Amino acid sequence: MKRRKIAAAVLLFAISAAGASGCQSSQETFGEKVYAGVTCYDQSDTFVSELLDCFKEELESYGGDTLEVNVTVRDAAGSQRTQNDQVKELLDGGCNVLCVNLVDRADPSEIIDLAREQEVPVIFFNREPVAEDMLQWDRIYYVGADAKQSGVMQGELAADVIQGDSSIDRNRDGKIQYVVLEGEAGHQDAIIRTENAVDTLRKKGIQLEKLSYGIANWNRAQAQTRMMQIISEHPNKIELVLANNDDMALGALDAYEKLNVTESALPVFFGIDGTEVGLEAVADSRLSGTVYNDKEGQGEAMAKLAVSLITGKGMEDMEFEKERYVYLPYSKVTSENVSEFIRKREP
Ligand code: GAL
Ligand code: CA
Repeated sequence: MKRRKIAAAVLLFAISAAGASGCQSSQETFGEKVYAGVTCYDQSDTFVSELLDCFKEELESYGGDTLEVNVTVRDAAGSQRTQNDQVKELLDGGCNVLCVNLVDRADPSEIIDLAREQEVPVIFFNREPVAEDMLQWDRIYYVGADAKQSGVMQGELAADVIQGDSSIDRNRDGKIQYVVLEGEAGHQDAIIRTENAVDTLRKKGIQLEKLSYGIANWNRAQAQTRMMQIISEHPNKIELVLANNDDMALGALDAYEKLNVTESALPVFFGIDGTEVGLEAVADSRLSGTVYNDKEGQGEAMAKLAVSLITGKGMEDMEFEKERYVYLPYSKVTSENVSEFIRKREP
């Protein structure tokens, strides 16, 4: 994305002088500096790492003659305590905006306190703090998506596929035997996605029979393990797999592959995210559908918000809900429109 660039020699000089003195407050120079300190709950999470790539790219695109941009990313690797320490370090290092993907979405207080002491605004993303915590300070924001919408869309995708192909009801009992693979217990995107996907299928008139479920923490390998167990408990019975994300849908598929189940005996699989591997799997029909979690939109909103918070410009263009939330819409992805989403990734 092209940003306005003012190439005044005097500004250039001021910025290079400021650059030499490290991360100083913007008042001391003509140029301004955005130094974003980012910490994520687990960098091995496929969706989060793709989202971070989008964010970095977006934020860097704001850099130019009048604005210096710097991003530092830390991986909390599943520990809230580690994440709190990382926030301290980032603040000590001079970051002037924090982007936090909480490990424990119910435990942001220490981070909020640290940020407030230094008056550094916080953009929480992807793991939504509870509403009361968002009221702890007026310089905290959230960027993410509406979990309910993704569940409804997954249910609609599955209903369309099931209604369009009677062979999915393999035992012909008029019901769809299904299993659910869920993300972390306590994550806003886990239970809400599951409930809404199942409710939507029911509302569309599909008779369902739940065989089992497994919690696999968004993780492909864990989903494979859980699915191997579930398959052995219900051999040849499963007709539908609803997974809270693509990685777990693919882990379920891995389980069948490992068991050498032939294609005609496979259930249908649905994910959410539209990660690179997820989209490829939709393109070659291993997944029957996914729901696009708009990482480009989220990364863009985070970058724009970070820049606005520092420069004081552009805040009026942000589309907030409840004053400090930005929710990007999901979209349905099938083999028919998947190429549009694959293209979206390309520069
Ligand atoms: C969800 C996403 C999952 C996982 C999770 C981590 O929005 O669908 O794949 O990344 O966030 O918080
Ligand atoms: Ca059936």
